[in-house]
Amino acid sequence: MASLTIRKLDENVKTYLRLRSAKNRRSVEEEVRVILRELIEGREEPLTPLAAPPDVAAPAPTSQRTSALPEASVTLIIGGGIAAYKSLDLIRRLKERRIEVRCVLTKAAQQFVTSLAVSALSHERVYTDLFDPQSEFDAGHIRLARDCDLIVVAPATADLMAKMAHGHADDLASAILLATNRRILLAPAMNPLMWNNAATRRNVAQLQRDGVVLIGPNSGEMAEAGEAGVGRMSEAIEIAAAAERLLRPPVPRPLAGKRVLITAGPTHEPIDPVRYIANRSSGKQGFAIAAAAQAAGAEVILVSGPVDLDDPDGVTVKHVESARQMLEHVQASLPVDIAIFAAAVADWRVANEGEQKLKKTSAGMPPLQLVENPDILATISKLIGKRPPLVIGFAAETEHLIDNAKSKLQRKGCDWIVANDVSPATGVMGGDRNTVHLISRKNGEIAVDSWPVMTKEQVATELIAHVVKSVADKSLEPAS
Ligand code: C5P
Repeated sequence: MASLTIRKLDENVKTYLRLRSAKNRRSVEEEVRVILRELIEGREEPLTPLAAPPDVAAPAPTSQRTSALPEASVTLIIGGGIAAYKSLDLIRRLKERRIEVRCVLTKAAQQFVTSLAVSALSHERVYTDLFDPQSEFDAGHIRLARDCDLIVVAPATADLMAKMAHGHADDLASAILLATNRRILLAPAMNPLMWNNAATRRNVAQLQRDGVVLIGPNSGEMAEAGEAGVGRMSEAIEIAAAAERLLRPPVPRPLAGKRVLITAGPTHEPIDPVRYIANRSSGKQGFAIAAAAQAAGAEVILVSGPVDLDDPDGVTVKHVESARQMLEHVQASLPVDIAIFAAAVADWRVANEGEQKLKKTSAGMPPLQLVENPDILATISKLIGKRPPLVIGFAAETEHLIDNAKSKLQRKGCDWIVANDVSPATGVMGGDRNTVHLISRKNGEIAVDSWPVMTKEQVATELIAHVVKSVADKSLEPAS
């Protein structure tokens, strides 16, 4: 049967195949096989144009790459040493952590493990040759070097490390290591005398200065009878855990164990069953603060007036309409460690709320009598016993911003005020950006910290960063 030479295909067909195979993490040859099989089975993918590949000089971060790609991927370079047998287990350990693995075998590694075993475990084609026409017509070593999130070298032999330290690129493994802009994790494995040799010591020190991360080697018995010392490759499970730490670093959760209460949005104060008094607050700032506090590890309770926003993930949301309902839910949520009052609560409500829809009468407009709503911020700030250790209010002003905010801080008895200008020209109400000033007390004085214009998410992140700092400084007692 005639064989197909991919190099001889039309340029546009080659480009299509190259992009599609890169997207599906297959060799071009495998991709052709898949296309033919799907064609015969009548379920071929439509030949829609594929997105351009990531710019090799500046690859897109994983999250921006096609969603067909796995969550994390590793190019595993297997060096030539007896420890190579452990790399077979390493492939399994990485895959069970949902890390896709593409393997490269050095010439020497092929003396210890076979491509067949490696490809069976990785479910991927194995790469061995720098001048492989199948993958090199589109610079396959560059793809192996960059179309992954991490490069792991296990075992990293003394020779491979020497090549890396000196920037050699005379085979596929060393070319990948020189061409990559991804982090590199080395699991050295060699005889203790080689590990302790002055040349290896120099190379290890150089590689560490270059930012390469090492796991091991461990000490123990060597494969060579009667030899022991430092030089055994780390166990597969240790290498996989180290790879995972680099791929998915633990997210800091500085507010873990803290309860944060946030109010957001407007309130609706009923006039009758169909009408109400409202304001233009969108709730975006309060919701962004809730999300930022949750991301910092806090347990978050968000009491929100009527808004057109999705509940933030991982946050307990209580939906309310009026100021009195908001106060009720706020009080029921105590004790908390931090309370942030971002809601635009209506100052007044209608005293004589109609039980039926108010009618037009010949006497003209029915009189609306207003009474003051409870001030939730002031009520909570002045609590004795259950007062949260840190209470933050907002001051949305249209004039004399700082002066009004400073007097609000005193009057309401809170610890900080986030002041923002909500004059229509600023577009803050309902918009996505905010310019705020953080007003607090420092050494008996009122301090004003003015932040540049930011998105509401950035304001939220910055405010939570200040909260984290204050929690750390004051070591707030846990709410009880
Ligand atoms: O008095 P003013 O409405 O300008 O105060 C704004 C601050 O007070 C905001 O933090 C707001 O959430 C809070 N507030 C409140 N209850 C009210 C009025 C305002 O919690 N009734």
